[in-house]
Amino acid sequence: MDLSGKHVVVTGAANGIGHALAERFHQAGARIVAADLDGVGAERVAAALNAVRPDSCLGVHADIGSEQGNVDLIRTAQQVFGPIDLFFANAGVGIGTDLETTEAVWDTAFNVNVHAHRWAAKHLLPDWLDRGEGYFCSTASAAGLLSQIGSAPYSMTKHAAVAFAEWLSLTYGARGLRVSCLCPQGVNTNMLNQGDVPGAGASSSVVRSAGVVLEPAEVAEAVLTVINAETFLVAPHPEVLTYWARKVSDYDRWLAGMRKLQARVTGE
Ligand SMILES: NC(=O)c1ccc[n+]([C@@H]2O[C@H](COP(=O)([O-])OP(=O)(O)OC[C@H]3O[C@@H](n4cnc5c(N)ncnc54)[C@H](O)[C@@H]3O)[C@@H](O)[C@H]2O)c1
Repeated sequence: MDLSGKHVVVTGAANGIGHALAERFHQAGARIVAADLDGVGAERVAAALNAVRPDSCLGVHADIGSEQGNVDLIRTAQQVFGPIDLFFANAGVGIGTDLETTEAVWDTAFNVNVHAHRWAAKHLLPDWLDRGEGYFCSTASAAGLLSQIGSAPYSMTKHAAVAFAEWLSLTYGARGLRVSCLCPQGVNTNMLNQGDVPGAGASSSVVRSAGVVLEPAEVAEAVLTVINAETFLVAPHPEVLTYWARKVSDYDRWLAGMRKLQARVTGE
C-alpha cells in the first residue's frame, strides 16, 4: 500500500514506536489519527505534524483497553477523515511477572495487548469487507514468536497477538484484507527504559542482553517497507528470525538456552 493520501489510525501514538509510526506515515503523505491514553501527548504529536501539513493529523485521547474505547476511536476517526484505510493497533503494556501477578494486571495486559486488536478489527471489518479492502497492522513483539523471560503476561499476550493477526490474515485475506504484524525485540522507548522495576521482572535486562536496541524511527522505517510490500511479518531485528528458526528446529535445546540466559541475567 502506498500511504500517500491514506487515512491511518495509530494507537499508542503519543510515545515510542507509535509516535515514530505516526511521523513516518505522515511523511509518506498519510492523514493521521494519533490516539493514546495520554491525550495531551497525542495532541502534542498532532500539533507537530499539523505544523508541517495543516489539518493532516488529529490527536485524540483514547482508552483502547475496552471495546467501547475502540468504537469511540473508530467513529471519531471516520467522522473527521472519512473511511479508515489502515488501522495500527500498536498501544501496549509491559506489565506483570509470574503466578503472583494480580488478576487486575492480567486483565489489563490481555485487554490492551490482545483484546484491543480483536475489538478494533470487529468494528473495522464490516466497512472493509464492503469496500473489498482494508489494512490491519498490529504491534506484537519478538516475545510473541519466542518468549519473554521475566513476564508470563507479556509472553502470553504477545503470542496471542501474533495468533490473532495470523487468523485475521488467513480468514479475510482473500476478501481484500491485508494484515501485517510487527515483532521487534529491544526498542529505545519508555517501555524498555522503565528498567527492571518491580512488576516488570527482569524483562528489560534480558531484552538488552539479547541483542541490539533499535531506535523507534528505525522500526518505523522497517514497518513502512513491509506495508509498501503488503507482506505479513515485520522483524526489524534479523536475529529474531534466527532465534525463531532455532526454536522451531529443536524446542528443547531452545528452552535450555533460554534457561541459561535467564540464569545469567538474574544471577539465580
Ligand atoms: N520497546 C520495546 O522494546 C518493544 C519491543 C517489542 C514490542 N513492543 C511493543 O511496542 C508497542 C509500543 O510500545 P513502546 O515500546 O513504544 O512503549 P511506550 O510505553 O513508549 O508506548 C506505549 C504507548 O501506549 C499507550 N497506551 C497504553 N495503554 C493504552 C490504552 N489502554 N489506550 C491507549 N493507549 C495506551 C501509552 O500511553 C504509550 O503512549 C507495545 O505494544 C509494546 O508491547 C515494544
